[in-house]
Amino acid sequence: MSVSLRLRLIAMSEVCTERPVLSPTKKTKKPTRDQKNMSMDSLKDVYIDQLLDLHSANNQSAKVTAKLREAATDTELKEALQRGEDGIKEGMKVMKSISESHGKQGESEHCKGMEGLVREAEAHALDETFGDDDTRDAMIITQYQRMAHYAIAGYGCLAAFANRLGLEDERQQIQECLDACYSGDKGMSELAEGGINKAAV
Ligand SMILES: [Fe+2]
Repeated sequence: MSVSLRLRLIAMSEVCTERPVLSPTKKTKKPTRDQKNMSMDSLKDVYIDQLLDLHSANNQSAKVTAKLREAATDTELKEALQRGEDGIKEGMKVMKSISESHGKQGESEHCKGMEGLVREAEAHALDETFGDDDTRDAMIITQYQRMAHYAIAGYGCLAAFANRLGLEDERQQIQECLDACYSGDKGMSELAEGGINKAAV
């Protein structure tokens, strides 16, 4: 095996094991599960891990949704984004209270998935130059929906975990978050397909 191939394989194995790369000069974010050396032994552990992850995801998406609302032009879109932000914050409260009822600190995780989606939203909808307001609104909707779909996947899995674990009260609370998120996403599709995409052509 050549030296360059061996080096490439070592680099790939480091990516695959998802070990956190810590820079001594850079301020690090909240520790990931890897860094905390916690072992995951049951569905309950997966459930709690994902509650904490979704709390962090909601925290990040709420902040950028507020920025998207400020950047939006269409009045109905602004209102929908406000409702979206309110719903995300409600979801945060639910994730926090459920995880705390299981003895976990509600703000102890950092969701790297949503961090990436937030960066996408900032780059494509906020930092980009738009010569037309409808075009920016169309971009805002697509970026919001990417984040909403991440949350829908998260809530859906959590509801299934709670159901399997026999946590009916928690399942219901999570289902309400899922329904609200799904309904907000559907409303965004209706806004886009009902006029904003057409106006942006
Ligand atoms: Fe995540």
